[in-house]
Amino acid sequence: MERTFAIIKPDAVQSRYTGRILQCIEESGFTIRAMQMRRLSVTEAEGFYDVHRARPFFGSLTQFMSSGPCVVMALEAEHAIARWRMLMGATDPAKADVATLRKEFGASIEHNATHGSDAPETAAYELGYFFPGIEFSK
Ligand code: CMP
Repeated sequence: MERTFAIIKPDAVQSRYTGRILQCIEESGFTIRAMQMRRLSVTEAEGFYDVHRARPFFGSLTQFMSSGPCVVMALEAEHAIARWRMLMGATDPAKADVATLRKEFGASIEHNATHGSDAPETAAYELGYFFPGIEFSK
C-alpha cells in the first residue's frame, strides 16, 4: 500500500465539483485516509509550491491556490502515486486524456482542478506539510 497527497483545487471547489471528484476517487479504489477543506494563505501556497518559485507562473499560481477553499487529502492504494496521476491526467486539461479529472473538470493549465504528488519523496513531504504528525486511520 502506498499513500499520496492530493488537492481538489479552488477552481473545482468553487465550481461545485468536489462531490463528483470524491466519487471518482472512491470508485477508482482509493481509500481517503485524511481530508480537510481549508483556505491556504499566500504564504502556505508559496511554501507548498516552493520548487516552482523561479517559474514565471509562481505568483499567479500561489494567488490562485489561496483564492478560495480547497480540499487536501491523503489517498491510499497500491501504487497510489502513479494511479492518482493517471486519474488526474496531464497538467494541461487541453492535453489530458478523456475520462481524466483534469479533462473533465479543469479549465486551464493553471486552473486544473486537482494536484497530486509526483514521487514518493514528494508525497512524504506534501503529506507532512498538510498533515503534520497525523496517525492515518486504518
Ligand atoms: P500542479 O500539479 O499542482 O503542480 C504545479 C502547478 O503549477 C500545476 O499543477 C498547475 O496548476 C501550475 N502550472 C504548471 N505549468 C503552468 C504554466 N505553464 N502556466 C501556469 N500554471 C502552470
